[in-house]
Amino acid sequence: METEVIKEQKKHISEENSKIESSKLVPDAEHRERVRVIKEISEINKDKELYYCILTMGCKLNENDSEKLSGMAEEMGYKKTEEIGSADLYIINTCCVRQNAEEKVFGKIGELKRSKEKSGSIIAVGGCMMQEPHVIEKLNKSYPYIDVIFGTHTLHQFAEDLYKVLTNKEKVRNVIDIDGKIYEGLPVKREDGKKASVTIMNGCNNFCSYCIVPYVRGRERSRKPEDILNEVKELASEGYKEILLLGQNVNSYVGTGAEGETAKTINFAGLLEEIDKVEGIEIIKFISPHPKDFKDDVIEVIAKSSKISKIIHIPVQSGSTKVLEEMNRKYSKEQYLELISKIKARIPEVSFSTDIIVGFPGETEEDFEDTLDVVRKVNYEQVYMFIYSKRVGTPAAERECQVEEKVKHERFNRLKKLVDNQVEANNKKYIGTVHKILVEGYSKNNEEMLTGRTDSNKVVVFQGEETIIGQVVEIKIVSDHKWYLKGDVVK
Ligand code: 5AD
Ligand code: SF4
Repeated sequence: METEVIKEQKKHISEENSKIESSKLVPDAEHRERVRVIKEISEINKDKELYYCILTMGCKLNENDSEKLSGMAEEMGYKKTEEIGSADLYIINTCCVRQNAEEKVFGKIGELKRSKEKSGSIIAVGGCMMQEPHVIEKLNKSYPYIDVIFGTHTLHQFAEDLYKVLTNKEKVRNVIDIDGKIYEGLPVKREDGKKASVTIMNGCNNFCSYCIVPYVRGRERSRKPEDILNEVKELASEGYKEILLLGQNVNSYVGTGAEGETAKTINFAGLLEEIDKVEGIEIIKFISPHPKDFKDDVIEVIAKSSKISKIIHIPVQSGSTKVLEEMNRKYSKEQYLELISKIKARIPEVSFSTDIIVGFPGETEEDFEDTLDVVRKVNYEQVYMFIYSKRVGTPAAERECQVEEKVKHERFNRLKKLVDNQVEANNKKYIGTVHKILVEGYSKNNEEMLTGRTDSNKVVVFQGEETIIGQVVEIKIVSDHKWYLKGDVVK
């Protein structure tokens, strides 16, 4: 139930945000056609009780794409179900960054065969894996019953693809290898009512030698600043408090404004500044920046903002300068550490999280020690650790000096132990500190307590009235536990 206070708050936010200048979205012919097809499918589905089930693998960008697929499915008359076996439409949004995500997909498609045979459900498989020719070959050969295969550049055509299945019983294969333009105006069904992710750019130009992303998501394309701003303002007026800006390489963002006299180009720092002005949004986060593109203007905007999170995710990947060069990362161990020091000097309360790959081809014990050294020096709040996984078509996969599985696992475990110890020690430092926290709801493990996360992504539980759910409050940490912190509301 929306209280009068929340209604009043939303009205104020809308009024304030309408003062920020930005242009309206003008739907083009293609967009109008899409809306028409969605309407036609909802007519076909009228009076039927239909369900869709969506499975999402991989990163936050994929989750954001799935929110758009869900938005389209709901407008076409499908309701969401989590239950495999009871849906009329299955959508699998795939990831190919590492081998284990790929394997899961084939297992799931196999599982869905029975549901298709039993009740004629429609199976649609899309996303990053579909941009890999060897995957398409395998799907066509071993899983011919899939109804729709779509890629990363054709996701916005999902309604048109489904229309062909529903009306002609066609098997649709809609994958293209050219960079799709960025589509605005797709319906979105967000998973969370308080935190929202907003994609600011698609694709990547960096070609790190281990990574498949530039091959499957194409070159960098930035959304227009006003489209991003309009989306953020709309989210604010709907009551969202936290925004996560997404892109494979957010700090290469270059947005060109509306055409005409007001056209201007802004970079990531400029975009952050604009988003910072949006009334109602209280917490702003972004993933992922590339260390080589992390410029002083971005540091300055973060330092001056009371909304931008002071935990910054800066993927290091390896601590060895030799490995970094072979990864094509374009910075050395020293340059990375200098960047960290520079940010710490300007923003004393800052902390960091990172991504690390263990067992990159040719990684020696000495190289791995360099990675441990960086972890000790930076003292990360959180480390996302990955065992190197060979990706077909990437330069690193061709190298002969692959590290033995046993060695990779042994190094992974050593890194994990170091990180776990650091995280546990860091938890102690939280006691007595005060944090701005978005109240997410009741804790799953203790229904009498509310829960939220610190800027640094640590779970905090605390007592409080139900009315503060969805609000940002200040919490003082009173004790630390292995997996969470306990606190008291101070404001
Ligand atoms: N093997 C292991 N990890 C990888 N990543 C990207 N490609 C690979 C790979 N081939 C990791 C990187 C990246 C994160 C999203 O996934 O650390 O930052
Ligand atoms: Fe992959 Fe490197 Fe691009 Fe990140 S920056 S998506 S790791 S190629």
